[in-house]
Amino acid sequence: MNETTRKQYSELRSARWYAAPGLRSSTHRSRTKQLGYGDEDYAGKPVIGIINTWSEMNSCHRHLRDRAEEVKRGVWQAGGFPVEMPATSLGEIFMKPSAMMYRNLLAMEAEELLRANPVDGAVLLGGCDKTVPGLVMAATSMNIPAIFVPAGPMLRGNWAGKTLGSGTDVWKYWAELRAGTIDEADFIGVEDGVARSAGTCMTMGTASTMAAITEVLGLTLPGASSIPAVDSGHSRMASESGRRIVELVWQDVKPRDLLTPAAFDNAITTLMALGGSTNAIIHLVAMAGRAGIELPLDRFDELSTQTPVLANLRPSGKYLMEDYHYAGGLRALLRQILPLLDTGCRSVNGMTLGENLADAEIFNDDVIRSPASALQAEGGLTVLRGNLAPDGAVIKSAAMETRFLKHRGPAIVFRDYDDMAARIDDPALGATADSVLVLQNAGPQGAPGMPEWGQLPIPKSLLEQGVRDMLRISDARMSGTSYGACVLHVAPESYVGGPLALVRDGDLIELDVAARSLRLVLDDAEIAARRAAWTPPPPHYERGYGLLWADHVGQADRGCDFDFLAGDAPTKEPEIH
Ligand code: FES
Repeated sequence: MNETTRKQYSELRSARWYAAPGLRSSTHRSRTKQLGYGDEDYAGKPVIGIINTWSEMNSCHRHLRDRAEEVKRGVWQAGGFPVEMPATSLGEIFMKPSAMMYRNLLAMEAEELLRANPVDGAVLLGGCDKTVPGLVMAATSMNIPAIFVPAGPMLRGNWAGKTLGSGTDVWKYWAELRAGTIDEADFIGVEDGVARSAGTCMTMGTASTMAAITEVLGLTLPGASSIPAVDSGHSRMASESGRRIVELVWQDVKPRDLLTPAAFDNAITTLMALGGSTNAIIHLVAMAGRAGIELPLDRFDELSTQTPVLANLRPSGKYLMEDYHYAGGLRALLRQILPLLDTGCRSVNGMTLGENLADAEIFNDDVIRSPASALQAEGGLTVLRGNLAPDGAVIKSAAMETRFLKHRGPAIVFRDYDDMAARIDDPALGATADSVLVLQNAGPQGAPGMPEWGQLPIPKSLLEQGVRDMLRISDARMSGTSYGACVLHVAPESYVGGPLALVRDGDLIELDVAARSLRLVLDDAEIAARRAAWTPPPPHYERGYGLLWADHVGQADRGCDFDFLAGDAPTKEPEIH
């Protein structure tokens, strides 16, 4: 990073397209004029690519066309030339088998969009879960100046005088419907009232978690991550981001200048203080990998044990993102844990984290707690290991019934999602409140795409008895808006022969969160015999992107990045002939 020296126009990437002698540059200028721009619009100016993940298949991003215009306004004001570039949108709700399966596709697409075109700096418009890591991974690998504009959370939901949180309250009332305590008409009321506006899920789900992480990594303007999507302040933040990216280009401030090991430690600490989404672990590992930084799962556990959970937000707590924003947002929360942060890390606004937090205030100390009144003294997320998860698994210990923190029970095994869906409510299942529900073949390769199936439903017979939580284990992920005693991301996954594949009905499974342990209570000889008898399932794909995914995706503990995209090896700039 260099804030005192400035680049010359001739040093910009775009100058190679526009200002070199010869016919090729003339053609580039001619085709820019075809867009209706004259020399005074673009000549001698940095080209700012606005990567927009707007799509009508992504309801959370329905406002991003407007925001792109507002970013452009800022770019023009600062003397840049804005160019909007649409990219794959990963609508979490609609994409099957999972949006996760396409995170790496967006990362690859956005990186190559930036590389192949005359772009000097990028403004990244995303928010719905996987778009955030996808765009950050792209910008980190491309490593040209970039600033992230998070889509912002939607307004809080309402039904029958009750406040509804995205996901969290849908799961809750769905369980009540199955238990018979509400009826179909009630549930339609929930359906009508839970998603009221543009914006991302307004619980502390994956979108809110990843936006906060992007802010603490220094990739957004300070305070940007929690501004409600439909608040006029969100538009102003977009314009300010447009102004700022032009300056970042002249100063040549690039993502890898900001994404240091200390910045990633700050991000993990923030994740824990938020009681944030388990998905963030996978994404952080992948994002750090693009900056050449190893993030072992144990680092998450180390920082978890020293970080209190301070955000009283669903699903771990009570409130929603709107409450949190007006209570002071991320800056106010981080101010509470300053001793746990490296305050020298820098942000796209040119200031250090410490400088950006200097005047942060809490306006509601029930929403943003102090360490003295923390929701949990430590460890919102816990990394587990043992003979059932040699390469790790995670559990959101902040959002589960505490009786499962230490639990031993007999397994009920589902070989895949369809098996689970067909049998979960079958009275012959024989489930008790102490049973351990095991879902196999739901991981990166097995499902495929590691969908958010990890919050297995409670069997109906138990719901009717008042049971609302059970120990559940899978190699799937779980929505950040979900809750419950769900062990997730078991690695290696069952589909590739991980120990989860060897579990049978009735086997005893032992979880001890304090000891970070997940064990199949079975002697080694029996495990070895089952392994010898195990045969791999048939492949899911014979061609296309699915085959690319299957051939190259890593396991959960490695961030599920593609082997050929991971790492920080330089990629060649295109020749311009
Ligand atoms: Fe888009 Fe939750 S579905 S953020």
